[in-house]
Amino acid sequence: MKILMVCLGNICRSPMADGLLRAKVAQESLDIEVDSAGTSGYHVGDTPDPRMRATAKSMGVNIDDLTSRQFVQADYDRFDVIYAMDESNRDNMFRLARNEEDKQKVKLILNEIYPGENMSVPDPYYGGDQGFIDVFNMLDEATSKIISDIKG
Ligand code: 4NP
Repeated sequence: MKILMVCLGNICRSPMADGLLRAKVAQESLDIEVDSAGTSGYHVGDTPDPRMRATAKSMGVNIDDLTSRQFVQADYDRFDVIYAMDESNRDNMFRLARNEEDKQKVKLILNEIYPGENMSVPDPYYGGDQGFIDVFNMLDEATSKIISDIKG
């Protein structure tokens, strides 16, 4: 199974989701590949935002080695499930979808814990430190639910 996490810049929300899910996959010795990408190319090659890295580290998760890349159409072939952090990320990915099968791979990550509510993981980039802590906590909960559903 292959899971992709996607946001706008791939420097705050999706690397955090990626790092959390990777850590849990390793902890549970599951055979799941995890990656992340951004719908924009603004930060390609960059490591995650220092504020997200610091929050992650303070919570015991290291995302220092991840680098930003842009979401591409071929990701629809490589991944089984693609989680968008918000509806704008989802709509951006839909524009690259070739068919209904591609679109059905895309889910809003917070629907895992708040089914059907179509809630967004708020973009913390222009805000203060609390925004990064909130993002961490939401994604911690969502990734735990993903793992528990996979384990059945
Ligand atoms: P992310 O946050 O989508 O969670 O990585 C952002 C990072 C950078 C920008 C926007 C959002 N930006 O416009 O540069």
